[in-house]
Amino acid sequence: MRFLLVGGGAREHAIGIALQRAGSELLVASSNANPGLERIAARSVRLDPTDGSRVVAFAKEAKAQAAVIGPEAPLGAGVADALRASGIPTVGPGKAAAQIETSKLFCRELLARHGVAGQPRFVAPTTVEEADRAVAQFPGPFVVKPSGLTAGKGVWVQGSDFTDPKEGAAYAKSILVQGQRVLLEEKLEGEEFSLMAFVTDSGVYPMPAVQDFKRALEGDKGGNTGGMGSYSQRDHLLPFLSAGERDQAVQVLEASAAAIRAEGLSYRGILYGGFMLTADGPRLLEFNARFGDPEGINVLTLYEPGDFESLLFGVATGRVDPNLIRFRLRATVVKYVVPPGYGDRPKPGGIVTVDDKAIEDAGVHLVYGSVEAVGPASVRLGTSRGLALVGEASAIHEAGSRVEAALAFVKGDYYVRHDIGTKEDLARRWEHVRRLRSPNAKASPLPLSVASADAPPSSAGAPDQVIG
Ligand code: AMP
Ligand code: GLY
Repeated sequence: MRFLLVGGGAREHAIGIALQRAGSELLVASSNANPGLERIAARSVRLDPTDGSRVVAFAKEAKAQAAVIGPEAPLGAGVADALRASGIPTVGPGKAAAQIETSKLFCRELLARHGVAGQPRFVAPTTVEEADRAVAQFPGPFVVKPSGLTAGKGVWVQGSDFTDPKEGAAYAKSILVQGQRVLLEEKLEGEEFSLMAFVTDSGVYPMPAVQDFKRALEGDKGGNTGGMGSYSQRDHLLPFLSAGERDQAVQVLEASAAAIRAEGLSYRGILYGGFMLTADGPRLLEFNARFGDPEGINVLTLYEPGDFESLLFGVATGRVDPNLIRFRLRATVVKYVVPPGYGDRPKPGGIVTVDDKAIEDAGVHLVYGSVEAVGPASVRLGTSRGLALVGEASAIHEAGSRVEAALAFVKGDYYVRHDIGTKEDLARRWEHVRRLRSPNAKASPLPLSVASADAPPSSAGAPDQVIG
């Protein structure tokens, strides 16, 4: 099938690899020439991916039979509507339903209207006076969020991005005076996780849970970023996340999909829930209307080779075969190679040399992001995330070690978070949640099922068995 892929980042390269393995003929429409996609695409064009008429013109001319939209900006611009209107089944919600991501205010109000559980308390002031009053309504720490898209970088959390409530109020007011809406939310304490699902108008099909590392620097220091890396566990849960808690998060996705339907909106695409696991269970931080980046790379790596094309076509046409929801039982770790200073002041232009073959020989997959090819084995970093390295193994820390070993074959001036997927970091997160659940109990070690590569996963299954 001729599949059009809109977007040119690492997430799109991972989608492209999964489609290519399923035998798709890949057509790529993106603003940048992604070196990984260039290698596997039958055709690829440079265009503004938010320009619906140009995307449709290319899709028609290249005889695309289906389309998948990777990033949020084209969804927000209505590119999925334009493709569907021209008769091309598309993975990705239309502009109206994509507001679940593009407007945090739309999302919170929709979920509140339909009584979806698991929301933090929020206030959406419309004037600077209201903003001052809103701050006073939060007895504890709070969070300030511009309502629109900020690539994960516009959210200010009390305790990390500001200390004095007055600073938070000033930030909220600065957003309002720019003519944008702003939300103030109760600050949730816990561990974050991402749960994505394939969604049609009749079904919600969850994928393995993933933990993303949002902060720029090791030890979760520095500013919020799009995500520096991520991991997933062999049993599709997380070290700190039980099956029951995952199921609660699935219920939030199901209730939200039902709320979207109840508003008369169609949804055929990916629904990504960003959750905080708190002492009271999972709470929803945000929705995205697409695969997470990097989280999508974890789950796409786990997708059982073969039928991704049928699965995506099923999502696009609203008829998913549940037997196609097949992810291997392996742990994965993704680490992003980024320009120095990424997050606040990225320094672009650095040349990085990559030995693709040595990386593959080390059992690690290389996924190309926002880089420009400058030779057969070298790329130039831009201001965004450059290369993603994906390791897989039985245990998370083992997958992380594989990525670390493969980084020896990536040379140049770049930054990477070495702490992602280490035993120490996993133990810290496990202990964080344990303390939230029972503050007075003694510290307990990381469970064997997480710490040891040889231990069986906590749900049944041999290492490489596939579960739905
Ligand atoms: P968002 O774009 O809404 O996901 O926010 C980006 C990041 O800000 C999240 O991944 C969290 O780390 C943090 N954040 C957002 N909302 C909250 C909240 N209510 N409480 C604590 N942290 C939050
Ligand atoms: N990694 C967070 C996101 O994709 O929005």
